[in-house]
Amino acid sequence: MVYDDIVIIAKKEIYAIKSINDLNILKIKYLGKKGYITTQFLLIKNLVKKERINKSIIINKQKKQIKKIIEKRKKEIELEKNDKKLLNQKIDISLPGKYIKIGSEHPIKNIISEIEKFFIKIGFEIVIGPEIEDVYHNFDALNIPKYHPIRKEQDTFWLDKNVLLRTQTSNVQIRIMKKTKPPIRILTSGKVYRNDYDSSHTPMFHQIEGLFIDKKVTFTDLKGILILFLNFFFGKKCKIRFRPSYFPFTEPSLEIDILNKNKEWIEILGAGMVHPNVLKNVKINFIKYRGFAFGLGVERLAMLRYNIHDIRSFYENDIRFLKQFKFNNFI
Ligand code: PHE
Repeated sequence: MVYDDIVIIAKKEIYAIKSINDLNILKIKYLGKKGYITTQFLLIKNLVKKERINKSIIINKQKKQIKKIIEKRKKEIELEKNDKKLLNQKIDISLPGKYIKIGSEHPIKNIISEIEKFFIKIGFEIVIGPEIEDVYHNFDALNIPKYHPIRKEQDTFWLDKNVLLRTQTSNVQIRIMKKTKPPIRILTSGKVYRNDYDSSHTPMFHQIEGLFIDKKVTFTDLKGILILFLNFFFGKKCKIRFRPSYFPFTEPSLEIDILNKNKEWIEILGAGMVHPNVLKNVKINFIKYRGFAFGLGVERLAMLRYNIHDIRSFYENDIRFLKQFKFNNFI
């Protein structure tokens, strides 16, 4: 493009400028009300028409060109400003990274996953059930009579007359048997609630419950699977004691104790053959089918494994307690 002298001068000046502010001042000098271009128009006011028209064409062209150059420079200055900003923010990738504190998996969760893996391997399916439950699934269907002490206020957290926080994971047995045809092989885990608080009880704790229903399930299967499991969990040398017991929903019933480091027997598990009344309640043919169920306390297992004496330490959120457990399967 061929520029008039004045445009060339303006261009030089415009390009010497480095900030939008200065550019605006220069813009006024050329294009403002009292600027160069306006003055030029005033100067030709008295010329003869033809000449005036010719000159005004030239001045208009100059005006347009100066305007364009200013716009262009304005964009450039803005870009330069951005580049500078980015340059200042340059990231030094050789700096060492920031240490982000991540917790570790809670020992209770870790034990649940470990036990789930064992039972999945021998064909059990993992299922879940509700923590807020009705009387039917938590008690009635499990053949727990109305007068059983477990229903009493001191054990159960009632939400209203018919709704409660489940006191055991056995509610899931009922829910699954009601909707599944045998054979059934399930394992469920989760929180249960009982109104109790001391060094061996917290109002919320965890249970794992297993259920196996088929045509020829026997007491021997129950014993075999549980010994296999306990050997897997505590090692082959652990001392296991089977002790007769009573649960309304199993017959016969038993409890299993483990010998701890102080040579004391610690109860960890309740089990038994599913009571025919329970099968009747969920409409499973109790002549054709039988099965076993077991329920174990996860905190008890964790306390035995890690030699923890007060169950409450699991739930105090003391980082020093949690730091002791470094599980490598944390995601
Ligand atoms: N639900 C029982 C409890 O909380 C444990 C159990 C489950 C016993 C299944 C027998 C069969 O103590």
